[in-house]
Amino acid sequence: MAAIIDGKEIAMQIKDELKQTAAKKKAEGVEVSLAVIQVGNDPASSVYVRNKKKGCEYVGIRSLSYELPEETTQEELLSLIRELNGRKDVNGILVQLPLPSHIHEDTVIQTIDPKKDVDGFHPQSVGALCIGEKGFVSCTPAGIIQLLKRSGIEIEGKECVVLGRSNIVGKPMALLLLRENATVTIAHSRTKNLKEVTGRADILIVAVGKPKMITKEYVKEGAVVIDVGINRDESNKLCGDVDFEDVAPVCSAITPVPGGVGPMTIAMLLNNCMESVSLQS
Ligand code: GUN
Repeated sequence: MAAIIDGKEIAMQIKDELKQTAAKKKAEGVEVSLAVIQVGNDPASSVYVRNKKKGCEYVGIRSLSYELPEETTQEELLSLIRELNGRKDVNGILVQLPLPSHIHEDTVIQTIDPKKDVDGFHPQSVGALCIGEKGFVSCTPAGIIQLLKRSGIEIEGKECVVLGRSNIVGKPMALLLLRENATVTIAHSRTKNLKEVTGRADILIVAVGKPKMITKEYVKEGAVVIDVGINRDESNKLCGDVDFEDVAPVCSAITPVPGGVGPMTIAMLLNNCMESVSLQS
């Protein structure tokens, strides 16, 4: 039976480390702060935003909350971001996605000062990751690297398959694994012979958004399986992209949903906020 990778526990370790760093900074007269912007009231986004603010509070990061109505224009949002870019007392800026359809997400992301881009979504941050320079890294893939390292799972030289090619997870995940000297394959919805490709993975990372799609036929015996999916099954229960009951018996380690990758995303956001201070000084 596989080891269950406890993301809640590892996220808590990281938050406790950050709490100490925040206290040290406070003693030196530095308060770290994050501006969180939500446009509209998508219920899932509201839950994520609430958890991000709770995380800030736990660690000792000041959060400034901007809850804007659905009808907010793109120009109004951009002008708020420009104002926050210029404020010395704001270290990080996070605009919760998705945005209402009349607002162009890429334009919004590109307006955030890369020095305050704690989500790591700005093209400059993505470019820096690509060429191995310093910059913010997207929180979910950064969290997965921490999950692996803190669980004692070696990455170097391993066959890693990332299933999914989104800008937020799949692509930065592949780049991070490459940085850790893995051999990396990105697979996606048009990949031929998918089971053959995923079946080669020593470490399989699944971010496709399809409930329980990955069954044991996709997984090599003894592989490590990381499930990024957050879905609802037929009975409205939270589930991942991996069929946990089916896959757990064949792998060496696996993340559960909930309690696997999810908590790590917030821990890494808080970590990026802490790092933003040194980028700005
Ligand atoms: N929506 C879903 N995930 C994320 C995230 O990591 N950051 C932001 N800003 N929005 C999201």
